Amino acid sequence: MRLCKALNVLLISLVSFIAPGWSDAGQVDWPRIKSVETALFYPGVSSWDFLTSDDHRLGAREIKKGKKDCRHCHLDKSGSLDLKADDIASGSMKMKRSHKPFEPEPLAGRKGVMLAGVQAAYDAENLYLRFNWLSKGSGWNNKGRTPDRISIQVNKTEPSFSKYGCFITCHKDLSTMPDAPSKREIEGNPAYSGRDEVSLYAFYARSSWADKRADADAKFRDGLIDLKAIEFEGGRVKSEDGWVFDTRAWEDKPGFEGTGSWAGGRYTAVFRIKRAASGKYNIGINEGDIITLGVAIHEDGASKRKHYVSLPIAIGIGQGGDIKAVKVQN
Ligand code: HEC
Repeated sequence: MRLCKALNVLLISLVSFIAPGWSDAGQVDWPRIKSVETALFYPGVSSWDFLTSDDHRLGAREIKKGKKDCRHCHLDKSGSLDLKADDIASGSMKMKRSHKPFEPEPLAGRKGVMLAGVQAAYDAENLYLRFNWLSKGSGWNNKGRTPDRISIQVNKTEPSFSKYGCFITCHKDLSTMPDAPSKREIEGNPAYSGRDEVSLYAFYARSSWADKRADADAKFRDGLIDLKAIEFEGGRVKSEDGWVFDTRAWEDKPGFEGTGSWAGGRYTAVFRIKRAASGKYNIGINEGDIITLGVAIHEDGASKRKHYVSLPIAIGIGQGGDIKAVKVQN
């Protein structure tokens, strides 16, 4: 009996040793999972069109060659951003060639960069992604105002997404961007019947808001970008699940569980995502995969393009990536 007990204790401590994050509650023991400080920046109207234009000079040339990615030129070795994001947010910076502003409607007092802690873990069934960031919590503490939200775009097979992240879905003709078509133009286009705005699309699915590419459907399997969001409003959390391809759309029911809260001046959000692909709009995630995330945070009344975004972040499921998801047993 006693020996059994001793063995049990030994086993339990062995399990917790080889599986950091294991806990009785069947939840991830987050304090044991490394948090990687990740910089997000305010992009203004920097779109895929800007990034591939003469306004982005050397950057555009390299993107066209498909060799160097955003991180190569804009992240230094310590993980700090090398980007003039404060000058974009304040509205003071102009594009080099066209002299158009990076932010034509600056919001007062916005800083250019914010940090978020990113943690990743997985078990046999789920991938868990946890984010935390300092915030006034204006969405959490108010009802009826613009909610605060964190959104992730996820893909594992499209090479341009792994290099450039969500920038491949951001275009100059999206609603609230400088070349957005008028409501009338949108309503007059049969492809937009029932909708009143142009939302995110991948450059390989549409050549412009009005034109779907002829070969788009063949790209769907690899090019589909999963989109998941957790929203905070008036002390409540809401999960939304969707996708981006030739447009952005939301599914009827979220295929993941989103939890989180605001406390002590900090938001925490956890995405619990089933690893088995369910349905057409979610991706399957296997041990050994490297998936790419693009993260966006909307804060303090900001909506649409007025968010903070990350450069692509590679998450290795058990190995590799910028951030390694740690295996836990639940
Ligand atoms: C080959 C290197 C290179 C790559 C790859 C690259 N950039 Fe740049 N980027 C630059 C340079 C150089 C500038 C400054 C342009 C200038 O002033 O001449 C710049 C400017 C910018 C700016 C304007 C703000 C600033 O600091 O000047 C943004 C925003 C930006 N890049 C975002 C991106 C994103 C997002 C990606 C990936 C999709 C990317 N860049 C890829 C080199 C690069």
